[in-house]
Amino acid sequence: MTLNFSEKDTALGIETRTETTTIAARCFALVPCAGSGSRAGTLKPKQYELIGGKSMVMHTLAALGAVERLQHVVVVVSPDDAHAWPDAPEWPSHFRRMACGGATRAESVFNGLTALLKEGEHNPAAVQAHDWILVHDAARCLVTELEINRLIDACLDDEVGGLLALPLPDTLKTAVHGRVSQTLPRQDKWLAQTPQMFRAGQLHAALQAKAKENFEGVTDEASAMEMAGFAPKLVVGSPHNFKVTYPSDFALAEDLLGSRK
Ligand code: CTP
Ligand code: MG
Repeated sequence: MTLNFSEKDTALGIETRTETTTIAARCFALVPCAGSGSRAGTLKPKQYELIGGKSMVMHTLAALGAVERLQHVVVVVSPDDAHAWPDAPEWPSHFRRMACGGATRAESVFNGLTALLKEGEHNPAAVQAHDWILVHDAARCLVTELEINRLIDACLDDEVGGLLALPLPDTLKTAVHGRVSQTLPRQDKWLAQTPQMFRAGQLHAALQAKAKENFEGVTDEASAMEMAGFAPKLVVGSPHNFKVTYPSDFALAEDLLGSRK
């Protein structure tokens, strides 16, 4: 993505200077990894549970590490989790941790992004407002390099950015006291996944606008962008890129990861 500037002599109505400045937007990744995994029923936070002999988050990071266009991958962990981090030998040099996780996913993303943009004020190699940030859940350990690159390809020249998502495959019902109250049309419904890819500055501003209200209603980056008036692009993901959430999800994740070897 490039931004082109040229100057016009407005009095004459002609272009008097054709010099073009190109600002290339780079891609960075931020991985919220500071949750407690309350629905998973595990003793430690679910992202540190072993799946096929390797912690869940290391599977996630292996996929991100394979994407050459990512400049840096920043993992936002809870200040309390620092001790639980697996010292994996495959930790690449462009990966790092930040122990600034918050009480909610949105707060963890906001804290990480705030710290990154602050670094960028003094260091041009760090994240700048016009750079892309790909936010990806540590708990989506089945994402593939191919899917991440598909999202980047689809969004790199987009005005807003977007997210991996799946058109809803099943009939959708609303329920009241365990009984169906309504069947909703599914044609316009999608299941949101991650990564979600937005301009770092715009995403930060969108999250900041919701910070005073404890990020109410911000369940993903796209929802914050929507509240700020943007319409994120939907890019078809894969059913395999599910978020490991419940106890039964671990066995399924292990089977799928095992089948890829
Ligand atoms: N996350 C985070 N900070 C939080 C809460 C969640 O960084 N305060 C991260 C999780 O570590 C996970 C991702 O956001 O990688 C998606 O969240 P979710 O699957 O809901 O994880 P948990 O919140 O840990 O699980 P639960 O909701 O079951 O407690
Ligand atoms: Mg949660």
